[in-house]
Amino acid sequence: MTLTLLSLAIFFCVATATAAPRHLKLPTFIPRGGGLLDSDSISPDSSDPRGGSLLDSDPSPDPNDPRVDETIKLVRSAADLLNDKGTAAYPTLRTSLEYRHGETYVFIYNLNCTILFNAASPQKEGHNTHNLTDSNGYKFHDALVSAADSEEGEKWVSYFWPKPEEEESSKKWTFAKKVVIEGEEGVVMSGFYE
Ligand SMILES: *[C@@H]1O[C@H](CO)[C@@H](O)[C@H](O)[C@H]1NC(C)=O
Ligand SMILES: *[C@@H]1O[C@H](CO)[C@@H](O)[C@H](O)[C@H]1NC(C)=O
Repeated sequence: MTLTLLSLAIFFCVATATAAPRHLKLPTFIPRGGGLLDSDSISPDSSDPRGGSLLDSDPSPDPNDPRVDETIKLVRSAADLLNDKGTAAYPTLRTSLEYRHGETYVFIYNLNCTILFNAASPQKEGHNTHNLTDSNGYKFHDALVSAADSEEGEKWVSYFWPKPEEEESSKKWTFAKKVVIEGEEGVVMSGFYE
């Protein structure tokens, strides 16, 4: 009898102590960096060009990765060249080591998602990519254009895409920046694979 009462008393104390006060909000975990894309259980919202931006409308890569700053610098430098020289910048962007090395290359769309330039796959130039998706059903070409055609004028987008010379997709972070090439608005981009 005494033991039962004691157990009840302990139970009551523990229960009181562990019940979270109602007015205290528990912190909500919000995954960063395209969390939706990493999950098999949640499919991206196809009506949103950013693939379900409820969790994070502006994902960004790990700031400690040195490729983040390198990529931003490369894209801004390519943008300066394009704004300045127009399509005459294409040969430099295609072949100069500064813009084309290893898995690094520059590509350019107009605001309709038509590929104006792609240093890794020149055969794709002229193709329209509007509504085309990555292996997760994410309309990333449209997302890249929206990212650049935004108030900020430049943003990161992540999606899945094969490395040059590969078939399998890898996660890629691309920095997209708005440019004006000979009077026409476009988007210049480059990225790195995780
Ligand atoms: C983009 O699409 C719009 C609407 O379909 C069209 O009017 C415009 O000419 C297109 N622009 C380019 C550069 O293809
Ligand atoms: C792109 O997708 C939207 C939404 O699903 C659809 O309304 C539109 O017709 C599509 N456009 C093209 C060119 O496929």
